[in-house]
Amino acid sequence: MKLKKVIAIAMASAMVFGLAACGNSAAPAATEAPAEEAPAEEAPAEETPAEEAPAEEEAAAEEAAAEDAEAAAETAGAGGNIGVCIYKFDDAFMTTYRNALQEILEGKGYTVTFMDGKNDQAEQNNQINNFIAQKVDALIINPVMTSAVDQIIATVKDAGVPTVLINREPTADQMSAYDKLVYVGCDARQSGTMQGELILDTANKGDINGDGKVSYIMIQGDPENVDAQYRTEFSVKALTDAGMEVEELDLQRGDWDRNKGQEIAQNDLAKFGEDIEVIFCNNDDMAIGALQAIQAAGRKVNEDIYLVGVDALDAALNEVAAGNMTGTVLNDAQGQAEGAVAAMEELLGGKTYAAGEQSIYVDYVKVTPDNVADFQ
Ligand code: GAL
Repeated sequence: MKLKKVIAIAMASAMVFGLAACGNSAAPAATEAPAEEAPAEEAPAEETPAEEAPAEEEAAAEEAAAEDAEAAAETAGAGGNIGVCIYKFDDAFMTTYRNALQEILEGKGYTVTFMDGKNDQAEQNNQINNFIAQKVDALIINPVMTSAVDQIIATVKDAGVPTVLINREPTADQMSAYDKLVYVGCDARQSGTMQGELILDTANKGDINGDGKVSYIMIQGDPENVDAQYRTEFSVKALTDAGMEVEELDLQRGDWDRNKGQEIAQNDLAKFGEDIEVIFCNNDDMAIGALQAIQAAGRKVNEDIYLVGVDALDAALNEVAAGNMTGTVLNDAQGQAEGAVAAMEELLGGKTYAAGEQSIYVDYVKVTPDNVADFQ
């Protein structure tokens, strides 16, 4: 799609600073990192034996490289230091999102440090406090727990740090506590509705066995998260709104995780067999797991069972194209990352957000075999 318009200077700054700042989850959140990384850039000069013939040329090249590095340093410095907290790195969709954020922020010359909350709110709270102590210019936070957002907002407000919340939407009321705060994400109700529509768009509207009702299992994400709550509710609501009768054979939490999706589907397929007509998964990673169980049970998607997810992960797009998933819903990581950075820059420019106007939404898009090629 519309990635990769990175200008040369941005590339240089990304190379000089990106690795130090973002290299790995274990590294402490240190905005000082770029300074520490600088000697590594100069290392070749010290290693080059003085008596080697093209020493002069090399010295000139090194000088030029050093100048480039300096120019890049100025650009990054001008961009400011940004701290990004991700609820956990080990999440397929958030990995795509994180990579998009990194490319955009570094491309704009920011020095950015990503922290892995490891699905632990206490750990993330420490990371936020560290970023504040290091005087980052802005924060982008994907909260571990939406219920902890009051505390997070109080902390960033106290420090006066402009903050963009992503992926896990708090209530408007919670956000109204701080006017230098905005949420950029999607309206999860829309993705649930689209999943229901994907089933309604099939030849038998999900009622494969023609018994007058759609019998499904629901593999839910982390139910603490509104995305899981709304997708669960609105996928089924789309069916009932269209006049379909439904029967929920099982609902279990798979915590957005592929292995859990596989286990739940495997157990349910063993238990309910042919009675399962639809497997709703709150995300694609769990759907990929469910697909493994479907195939192991000798069932065939779109013939004797339907399977839908959300996210449009590359793996899911391939399965939709191959007819192994009925469809998915694009959760636009690139669009959300661009929106988050744009909102962050507005906050840095002094913008404040009025209560009730602190959620910025990016649309979901239905993905079927007919349009899947547009997303690949
Ligand atoms: C959802 C996404 C899931 C998971 C979750 C984490 O929007 O669909 O795959 O990443 O966010 O909060």
